[in-house]
Amino acid sequence: MEKTNLKHIAIIMDGNGRWAQCRSHERIWGHIRGSKIVSNIVEEADDLGVKALTLYAFSTENWSRPVGEVTVLFKLLKKFLLKERSRILKNNIQFKVMGDTSKLPEKTKKLIADLEEDSKSNVGLKLTFAFGYGGRDEIVSAANKFIKENPGKELTEELLQSYLLLPQLGDVDLMIRTGGDQRISNFLLWQSAYAELYFSQTKWPDFTRVEFRKIVEFVSKRERRFGNVCSSDLQTSKMMAVENKEIITNL
Ligand code: IPE
Ligand code: IPE
Ligand code: MG
Repeated sequence: MEKTNLKHIAIIMDGNGRWAQCRSHERIWGHIRGSKIVSNIVEEADDLGVKALTLYAFSTENWSRPVGEVTVLFKLLKKFLLKERSRILKNNIQFKVMGDTSKLPEKTKKLIADLEEDSKSNVGLKLTFAFGYGGRDEIVSAANKFIKENPGKELTEELLQSYLLLPQLGDVDLMIRTGGDQRISNFLLWQSAYAELYFSQTKWPDFTRVEFRKIVEFVSKRERRFGNVCSSDLQTSKMMAVENKEIITNL
């Protein structure tokens, strides 16, 4: 099976509500169906050799949703933890939650803490749920923490990065959003500065391993230049150095 060179993939799992509404069901039905496919995508990421998979499950902005919907999302997180715990441990996955989980029920907080503790030495896929997470909030908290610990010292990009919630995850290589909308919605703002973006029309409950794999294969072929020119242009420019020098002198 072919492995990917994309180390960190982030997914905005969007479109649950519309998936249900298209079928004349309540929005929460979409969340229930959406939660059932998460483990397929985790498995596929593992098979593809991805090092880190970060899933956006609940944003700081999602607090504005009706209480009933928020409660369902809390319950689905708990269900996922109970159901997937043994598989996560068996597959050597390191599980973490990033974000403010303080408002979750105590029982769920304990399930998270236990799974984080029991999987912390696992060296396989780093699976992270962004829950109660917001990119701006993360950056502001990192900056505040730095200022408090280092009064008077100047912040650098490296230092700020080291104060993020999970700096070990590194930069995002590919950010996928399902559900058809083309925006980032406050997800991993710092880490995605140079991420490849892919927007799928598929609503999250219909997202499959096959589509995920196709996206990864498609994006793996893109040339990532990080501000530089492409490698063949770099060669040409070396060969043309003398000619270029003349052009530059005559400018
Ligand atoms: C994404 O699906 C799940 C969460 C935000 C928790 P939505 O609930 O946003 O679904 P749509 O975008 O309304 O279809
Ligand atoms: C982003 O989806 C958050 C999650 C998928 C958890 P939203 O549905 O909340 O985003 P907006 O409101 O369309 O930007
Ligand atoms: Mg949405």
